[in-house]
Amino acid sequence: MLSQLLLTLCFPYFWRDLLFLLKVLRYGARLELTKLTRSARTVLDRFVQQARRIPDKPFVVYEGRVHTYRDVELRSNRLANVFLDSVKLRKGDCVGLLMNNEPDFLCAWFGLAKVGCSVAFLNTNIRSKSLLHCFDCCGAKTLVVGSDLVEGLDGVLDVLLEDNIQVWAMGGPGGHPRVHTLLDKLDAASDQPVAAALRAAASLKSPTLYIFTSGTTGLPKAAVITHLQSLKAAAGFWAFGATEDDVMYIPLPLYHSAASLIGIGGTIELGASCVLKKKFSASQFWTDCRKHNVTVFQYIGELCRYLCNQPKTAGDQVHKVRMGVGNGLRQDVWREFQSRFGNIKMCEVYGSTEGNLCFMNHIGKIGTVGRSNFFYRLLFKYDLVKYDMVKDEAVKDPNGFCQRVEKGETGLLLSKVSALSPFFGYAGSKQLTEKKLMRNVFGKGDAYFNTGDLMAEDRDGFICFKDRVGDTFRWKGENVATTEVTETLGLVDFIQEVNVYGVEVQGHEGRAGMAAVILRAGMAFDGGKLFEHVTRDMPPYARPLFIRLQDVMEMTSTFKQQKFQLVHSGFNPSTTSDPLYVLDYQQQSYIPLTDGIYRSIQAGERKL
Ligand SMILES: *[C@@H]1O[C@H](CO)[C@@H](O)[C@H](O)[C@H]1NC(C)=O
Repeated sequence: MLSQLLLTLCFPYFWRDLLFLLKVLRYGARLELTKLTRSARTVLDRFVQQARRIPDKPFVVYEGRVHTYRDVELRSNRLANVFLDSVKLRKGDCVGLLMNNEPDFLCAWFGLAKVGCSVAFLNTNIRSKSLLHCFDCCGAKTLVVGSDLVEGLDGVLDVLLEDNIQVWAMGGPGGHPRVHTLLDKLDAASDQPVAAALRAAASLKSPTLYIFTSGTTGLPKAAVITHLQSLKAAAGFWAFGATEDDVMYIPLPLYHSAASLIGIGGTIELGASCVLKKKFSASQFWTDCRKHNVTVFQYIGELCRYLCNQPKTAGDQVHKVRMGVGNGLRQDVWREFQSRFGNIKMCEVYGSTEGNLCFMNHIGKIGTVGRSNFFYRLLFKYDLVKYDMVKDEAVKDPNGFCQRVEKGETGLLLSKVSALSPFFGYAGSKQLTEKKLMRNVFGKGDAYFNTGDLMAEDRDGFICFKDRVGDTFRWKGENVATTEVTETLGLVDFIQEVNVYGVEVQGHEGRAGMAAVILRAGMAFDGGKLFEHVTRDMPPYARPLFIRLQDVMEMTSTFKQQKFQLVHSGFNPSTTSDPLYVLDYQQQSYIPLTDGIYRSIQAGERKL
């Protein structure tokens, strides 16, 4: 009795931590068991099972139309048959999938998986050069493209075909003459399942998907997603307490791991229903939720902010939404969101697509991404180490080892790579994989996954995200790799040297892209030309919003470009004598950033 009282006083979260952990462990044990049995049970196996168990239950609701588990099962069977007979795909092939959110994304994905192909999800924003690079990474020889995206391929189609990559559109005839079509072959195809042996996974550690992330260097990297990782992600909703009676709202792009692995995978795991949106719309959000009795939604921080920015209505709290699952929610938005829309439990999940560590905020404490405790530390070996922001590198002791931070202090999050927490790396590049690893961190021979995130852990074990280091920042929910932007800007004829970084803008999540530029001798800055180059070659989120002209580029003591000072000096024209420019879509140019424009950005009047 007394000991229990003490326990509760000293460790107020003890029981909730323990229960959560037991739940996760039970799932983990089940996974370990299936690993031992010969044929591994995958997320797709689970889907086939659910389609048999609850065929008439809505699986996906899209633009008002209900697609039941049976509908998706049969259509993906037809597609699997077409993939075998017409496309001539074979088990073990890798196929690129370039589609916007729609039910056929899922049918194509499952159809390919039924044939035993691994699927590379391609970001629909990426442009020519990056797209070609994505094929190289994962060795895909076939591209399946949504019918609405065929036109956008114009610039790369020739190169793809030259490289012997077959292009198949999710559409009927009448499109591009050199693109094959899938949908006209569906009617004649059987809806009977293809042999189950085709989809059987040799091991849970074999790759099933490639998901592209803008890593810390250069072009997008293909994170290898094994069956094991997709099974773990599919348990997310369940771990947070969702059930098969829940209706999930998925407004995020399916080519990201959050929507596909946690959202769709989680819906399948539970046998629940989901409402899929082609694109997030703040004005339709609550109407959709009411209409479809949505109970759980997926978010990124920006999305909650957009919802808060909508005009208030009397019905703001009239809905059945009880839980949000996502990441990047800032404290102020979190508070405002809950006070305005009611007591919705916000479950932050921290973890990168390729990372080997995951935090889940099962307590729902505002402003934290997760919670560590005694049990958690047994399972995951992670550390926060001292980081020098100015030099842009970890602080080393005289022996060359990293130093742990004190409780409450901010440090770089590293996660130990071990058999329990393996790091599967990136497809097609051992070098990139190695770059994400830090070796000899606390002792000779150890290896840690470098998350690139600065975090702090308080006395109660709550962990909160502080900042991101080095070469990436987030904007509009996407990772921007500064090196990729640098490379693209470097191709402009009047630019001699570029330094790309992200600056904070009041009222916006993440950081807006900014580039410090040195002009070539004798050449002038041409805003129109730069605009044209940037809009042609870069996805919207990666385009630098601000340009700063400089005479010399400062370097750190280790000869890296100095970013720290630039980041802190921001884009306020009254605090620097360097000429500043801002991206302007109306004038289709980079125009001088005046005090007036600066103020309208700060006041949230100018759309960024
Ligand atoms: C939502 O719930 C209400 C009341 O429980 C029910 O009448 C309605 O049919 C449900 N709507 C949908 C789309 O399931």
